[in-house]
Amino acid sequence: MHELTLTRPDDWHLHLRDDVVMARVLPATAAVFARAIVMPNLQPPVTTVAQAAAYRDRIRAACPPGAGFTPLMTLYLTEATTGEELRLAAHTDFIHGVKLYPAGATTHSDAGVRHIDRIFPALEVLAETGLPLLVHGEVTDPDVDVFDREARFIDTALEPVLSRLPTLRVVFEHITTAQAVAFVRSRATGLAATITPQHLLYNRNALFQGGLRPHYYCLPVLKAERHRAAVLDAATSGDPRFFLGTDSAPHARSAKESACGCAGIYSAPLALPLYAEAFEQMGRLDRLEGFAAFHGADFYGLPRNAERITLIREDWSVPASYPLGSSELVPLRAGERLRWRVAPTPKPGNGQESTA
Ligand code: DOR
Ligand code: ZN
Repeated sequence: MHELTLTRPDDWHLHLRDDVVMARVLPATAAVFARAIVMPNLQPPVTTVAQAAAYRDRIRAACPPGAGFTPLMTLYLTEATTGEELRLAAHTDFIHGVKLYPAGATTHSDAGVRHIDRIFPALEVLAETGLPLLVHGEVTDPDVDVFDREARFIDTALEPVLSRLPTLRVVFEHITTAQAVAFVRSRATGLAATITPQHLLYNRNALFQGGLRPHYYCLPVLKAERHRAAVLDAATSGDPRFFLGTDSAPHARSAKESACGCAGIYSAPLALPLYAEAFEQMGRLDRLEGFAAFHGADFYGLPRNAERITLIREDWSVPASYPLGSSELVPLRAGERLRWRVAPTPKPGNGQESTA
């Protein structure tokens, strides 16, 4: 296959940051994805409807003209989030989820939740209103091995929460383990999961390939090969509970290449080609469209996109870095070859409009 045309995809898990970083990364996402669920872990976090509205305005202002990109906003859940705020959020047409970060689990999660029991009243409001809970599913107990934190979260937090609130709609974000795949498959409705390109293509060896590789470090951390295989099987299975979420998370080179480097992988400019590579490895390119463009929209109760996008089977080299103010942004696969490229979208007005 040399060309693959599919419905324009959405990114159901994205970090856009703010200000100069946002201006740098937004065009790459908006060129490919029609919509994105925008993570609220700014500093300070986006905890109120008013803050989400203001953030949405800044994203729209930074968006290249004619990109046709819609940011789907989220709130950051804290132990102080009120039911009133969540009801207000559920009544807007632009807030599509509420993100649960266990405090200390990842980048900018300090304002997150320390004791899950304290957020049950909030979760009850989500269950009642149907607004999805988006979960960073890792425990933070320092005694738990870093590679076991997702599996432990299922047993100690996710399963008990869903038992108590069976109607709660949950997106288990960036799943990385066979246990997470099995757990999602075990629930009849209301639970789905996003999957990143790095967790489809790499196992934890990538972190130590010939030395310590900070640009392969994200959270949840890459896992052993058997887990990668399970996640890849889930993504390419056609099961609508699994869908695309890049977790593209830009950090300046200096913050990554440091004695205590930040977690986060920047993948936005090459994410769709990476997913295509993963699906091609499994001989399941025919299922990429469902994963990238249908399953997420269906779960969130949003219309599927009408536009189409074409991937061309053509080798290209990922840039070694992108400029970022006085620093640089190093993408996943920096300086390496990719097998698929996104064809440029015809601009309206040049006689090449798509009739799709
Ligand atoms: O690696 C990560 N980076 N995981 C997250 O959960 C957050 C993200 C970030 O914001 O940089
Ligand atoms: Zn994330």
